[in-house]
Amino acid sequence: MQKLFAEELEALRARSLDRHLRELSSAQGAEVEIAGRRLINFSSNDYLGLANDPRLREAATAAIDDFGVGAGASRLISGTQSPHLALERALAQWKRTEAALCFSSGYAAALGTIPALVTKNDVVLLDKLCHASLIDGAKLSGAVLRVFPHNHVGKLESHLEWARREHSGKRVLIITESVFSMDGDRAPLRELVELKKCFGALLMLDEAHAVGVIGSNGRGLTAAENLNDDVDLQLGTLSKALGASGGYICGSRTLIEWLINGARSFIYSTAPPPAIAAAALAAVDFLASPEGEERRLLLWERIRLMQDLLPRTGLNKELSAARSAIFPWIVGDEKAALNLAAALQNEGFLVPAIRYPTVAKGAARLRITVTAAHETAQIRALCETINRLRC
Ligand SMILES: Cc1ncc(COP(=O)(O)O)c(C=O)c1O
Repeated sequence: MQKLFAEELEALRARSLDRHLRELSSAQGAEVEIAGRRLINFSSNDYLGLANDPRLREAATAAIDDFGVGAGASRLISGTQSPHLALERALAQWKRTEAALCFSSGYAAALGTIPALVTKNDVVLLDKLCHASLIDGAKLSGAVLRVFPHNHVGKLESHLEWARREHSGKRVLIITESVFSMDGDRAPLRELVELKKCFGALLMLDEAHAVGVIGSNGRGLTAAENLNDDVDLQLGTLSKALGASGGYICGSRTLIEWLINGARSFIYSTAPPPAIAAAALAAVDFLASPEGEERRLLLWERIRLMQDLLPRTGLNKELSAARSAIFPWIVGDEKAALNLAAALQNEGFLVPAIRYPTVAKGAARLRITVTAAHETAQIRALCETINRLRC
């Protein structure tokens, strides 16, 4: 048995596809410490620099004083504490939906929600670049799965026609992301909404990388496009721009009631720690405030600076149109991506190499993320170093 895994690991190593944990001995931030060395951090999704913010820390500490550490039971038994409900009310109000429901992670939200919506003989239509949690949720549902090429509205339309013909009377669920996690581009949301209305399908949008970044007060792409009534479910995470941990679904009250009754990752799992819910609530309150909006606008200044300074060359000609805080620096070869990440680390920058299966084979890249916590000098230094190293 052990030999079997050793051989499989060796096979991964031979293809430069093996992965390792790296230990951070500091909090998240624009700088982190690894192996006793400070590195400028371009790897995290803490887009607004909230993960170590005093507002969140104080909210968590106060909740620990009042509620302790563990929730002790699943939400439906006795694990629903005041911070959980306060957070769900605030999320719904901020996202301007009727209701919201929190899960222990964004991954758990996808895994529980999709199978609660569709089942065998229903149809799920997924964008090719959807996150693993959405793919896994769709597979778990047992519904018939069809993938459409990335952001290809024409192909989605032909899948919808096929579903109407071959699965008439069955539920059809379209799933996509507002901002794609490894490419940083956006879904053509208005066109998707038109199609979903035309075919009577449901639309689920993963706003994981849009919340806190896009739309006034960081409400996400749905709100920015004024499509709250047309996107049936907005999935999000509390663990990226919101600086805490957990996932959520925002939607109609009926939908949320149904998920409370049907989403297995919600029902059969201990409630998230109340202190984490309290920290996430502090983050939502901050985002909804004028100060939060200022922080988001600062993030966009940093995004524009990165967009101006990152060299444009070869595989990276497309860099001109930044649509989010995610900048993929496409390398192609897996080993070359690892080497470039290692060279950057030598120079004092933490930028992860992303490889198959997170992205397609031969499409390895550095995934550079900008945050509002970065100084302009740090962004300049990274871009100069990439420019020098790629020569
Ligand atoms: C697009 C997308 N959806 C969902 C998730 C899952 O969220 P969480 O990290 O809260 O489990 C992620 C996180 O990596 C993501 O990138």
